[in-house]
Amino acid sequence: MSETEASGDGGRRGRFVTFEGGEGAGKSTQLTRLADRLRRLGLSVITTREPGGSPGAEALRHVLLSGAAEALGPEAEAILFAAARADHVEALIRPAVASGQWVICDRFIDSTRVYQGITGNVPPRLIAALESISVGTMLPDLTLLLDLPAAEGLKRAAARRGFDTADRFEKDGIDLHESRRDGFLALARSEPDRFAVIDAAQEVETVAEAVWYAVRRRLGI
Ligand SMILES: Nc1ncnc2c1ncn2[C@@H]1O[C@H](COP(=O)(O)OP(=O)(O)O)[C@@H](O)[C@H]1O
Ligand SMILES: [Mg+2]
Repeated sequence: MSETEASGDGGRRGRFVTFEGGEGAGKSTQLTRLADRLRRLGLSVITTREPGGSPGAEALRHVLLSGAAEALGPEAEAILFAAARADHVEALIRPAVASGQWVICDRFIDSTRVYQGITGNVPPRLIAALESISVGTMLPDLTLLLDLPAAEGLKRAAARRGFDTADRFEKDGIDLHESRRDGFLALARSEPDRFAVIDAAQEVETVAEAVWYAVRRRLGI
């Protein structure tokens, strides 16, 4: 196939899938499993994460997750997330999907909508403007929301972390984490065609099967 055909949007466009959910929901675990499964089918798969995923965005990841940006206030923090995302989309996601690859991303716009927007006091108008600048039309084809009670996710995250300190967002109180869960569920209800809500309190294998079912049913593989 010629270069032109490969980059056209015919049958060659890849897919863009995102995982969302709270701390310890199992996003990283399930992302790896889904990528392995798709690769076994012979598909070309790139896994990535936010904040980060490209050299420019990874430099901002440290600023955001260490809490260094917290003192600048929620709006500045949201702007930095958007700057990182714009670089990630342009440097990695858009070209990969255009060339026929699958991109699976650990957190994306919905985390910003929830953490900075719904529960973070950044006005919806600013969130929408930043999203439009950073993402444009590069919306996920499918968003897998891993849903479980915040207390359960935090327990898992703490066990995973061991003696390391919690990051900027994990260290927030349980009520805020529960509100974030509600925020994600509200987003899922508002865009049922894009979201699949997965019960993430089940065993890893059971969650993986639910993810696989959603991917096959929604994306037709
Ligand atoms: N379904 C599950 N049941 C029990 N523990 C899980 C499950 N999924 C993931 N874990 C464990 O919980 C911790 C957090 O999972 P992880 O995938 O890192 O979550 P996230 O990326 O959403 O923060 C890890 O130690 C992981 O092994
Ligand atoms: Mg993770």
